[in-house]
Amino acid sequence: MSPAVSAAFLDACLRRPTPFTPIWLMRQAGRYMPEYRAVRARLAFLELCKNPDAAAEVTLQPVERLGVDAAILFADILLVLEPLGVGLEFTRGDGPRIERPVRSAAAARTLPAVDVEDAVGFVFETVRRVRKALADRVPLIGFAGAPFTLASYLIEGGPSREFLLTKTFMRQEPEAWAAMMTRLADVTADYLNGQIGAGVQAVQLFDSWVGALSPSDYREHVLPYSQRAIRGLVPGVPVIHFGTGTATLLPSMKEAGGDVIGLDWRVEIGPTWEGLGHDVAVQGNLDPAILLSSTGEIRRAAKEILDAVAGRPGHVFNLGHGVHKETPVDHVIALVDIVHELSSR
Ligand code: CP3
Repeated sequence: MSPAVSAAFLDACLRRPTPFTPIWLMRQAGRYMPEYRAVRARLAFLELCKNPDAAAEVTLQPVERLGVDAAILFADILLVLEPLGVGLEFTRGDGPRIERPVRSAAAARTLPAVDVEDAVGFVFETVRRVRKALADRVPLIGFAGAPFTLASYLIEGGPSREFLLTKTFMRQEPEAWAAMMTRLADVTADYLNGQIGAGVQAVQLFDSWVGALSPSDYREHVLPYSQRAIRGLVPGVPVIHFGTGTATLLPSMKEAGGDVIGLDWRVEIGPTWEGLGHDVAVQGNLDPAILLSSTGEIRRAAKEILDAVAGRPGHVFNLGHGVHKETPVDHVIALVDIVHELSSR
């Protein structure tokens, strides 16, 4: 199906007409795939991230199995927190945990600088191995966490629903917040530039939890730092800027930066893109829960998105957030085929 694909193709996906709508998926490698679970049976999650051979293997699994139009580097947004000395661990079932969360202005102000080559050089090595194995069949996309989403893990100490500690810190300690967010913006830019230097052909900035904020809080406490991270990137590499629950934040996210804005499933893609302006590309936005329904339902929902976008160049098909671990692999394969079939011109 997909022709030889390269960095130029990726550029074309984002800016010019392509023979079909390209599709790749957030969390396209992960526990829903038996071949991923087989690797995880012998390596803990952090061990896997730090093992370039195994991480490269896992990066390639969905490319081979699903026929997606890009490979997504296998790594994690939280890897750059470990060198900050806060104690990062991944516990079975509960997700990530920070042993010593940042709870004081002094701790926030004194976050150490991170030498990414030293601290997460294993990620860059994974990039080099994947690029070699891909031999330009499909482009490789790298990623990092945006400053707010990273700060929320540092302060809360793990996943959160309400982000009460983060929001309180942001208001009560504005100077320490600014210092921490500046540090995180620079770490993010360094982390992405390291990936770009090693060979990734686009990058995605994940501000997964920023939808917890009001538009005015976003503009005051977050936008300047996401903008700083994006402006710090090597020019010429497409940037995808994504968050969830962002319906009211999208214009501000566009202002912060990005060639492509990621949309979750809570918005209607047609009018939302129009509101954002067709001068920016969009990625999205199938509800990942739909992949647990029948293939007929998947087809209906994919068609609804493709019809709304009407073949306009600059749409990348994706989910509105990551693949759920309960998802049948066959349904993901079906989605990729359906999107290619319905959009080929
Ligand atoms: O294929 C890909 O898309 C690359 C995979 C990827 C991972 N993490 C691997 C992973 C990506 C893009 C990420 C980014 C990431 N990590 C984000 C932003 C994306 C999003 O979903 O919003 C966030 C918030 C994190 C932090 C994180 N890492 C959490 C909350 C968890 C636990 C998730 C869970 O469901 O348990 C992780 C662990 C993690 N990162 C897993 C994977 C495949 C599961 C770990 C396992 O194998 O047990």
